[in-house]
Amino acid sequence: MSDQQRQSPSEESIAEMFDTIAPRYDFLNSLLSFNQDKRWRKKLISLIPTKFNGTLVDMATGTGDVIINAAKKHREYATFLGLDISLQMMERAQQKAALAGLAQKISFKRASCEQTGLPAQFCDCISIAFGLRNTIDKDQALAEFYRVLKPSGYLLILEFFPPANSLFARIFQFYFQRILPLIGALFSNRAAYAYLPASVENFYQPNCLREKLQKMGFYPVKTHSFLFGACRLIAVKK
Ligand SMILES: C[S@@+](CC[C@H](N)C(=O)[O-])C[C@H]1O[C@@H](n2cnc3c(N)ncnc32)[C@H](O)[C@@H]1O
Repeated sequence: MSDQQRQSPSEESIAEMFDTIAPRYDFLNSLLSFNQDKRWRKKLISLIPTKFNGTLVDMATGTGDVIINAAKKHREYATFLGLDISLQMMERAQQKAALAGLAQKISFKRASCEQTGLPAQFCDCISIAFGLRNTIDKDQALAEFYRVLKPSGYLLILEFFPPANSLFARIFQFYFQRILPLIGALFSNRAAYAYLPASVENFYQPNCLREKLQKMGFYPVKTHSFLFGACRLIAVKK
């Protein structure tokens, strides 16, 4: 077991944490991001390649905003699959998919990013929004994404990154570390919303992630930066 794994919480405790915050997750996301989260996910969805009969897997799908909106926009895809370790988060996703009339189109599976249980070269596109940072073993998750993608398949990662060294970064860090856990405690679970800034601080720097992806064999496609680089969208191709 590596040092990183020894210090990290277990997969069960992370699933439990997301189970606890599931009822308020969507509301708090919009509140804490001033509704910007929708715009960022929309940008991710706009980068999903057009693929007739395609298969899209949304890893760490949570309450399903990416997979549901992707299914609305990319009607040419045949298969939409959302994966997550939290059953409560996915239950919300299932309810939302049913409300959108997409219950037949989207399926959900309880599995981790590190061990999806999917066959090699299964899908044309993988999306992951605000999920990679939460995984116990990020390198293993990335290797699993590479395995599961078809040749020329796309991997789209939307994530918060450790703040750069600028005035805005310091303001953002203050908001993230001090204000956000307070609002989280008020409406949901304090521990979960205190975990959020910690998980961002321990995440890769953007360049480190890009290098890692390239070493694994991915080719860069596009990157977008939001909030002065605090949130980024990285698109790569196998
Ligand atoms: C911050 S939420 C993001 C949810 C959704 N993608 C979104 O855009 O709102 C993180 C999600 O990652 C899931 N998660 C955490 N670790 C995971 C893992 N190792 N494998 C799969 N899902 C994981 C959590 O259960 C949670 O639903």
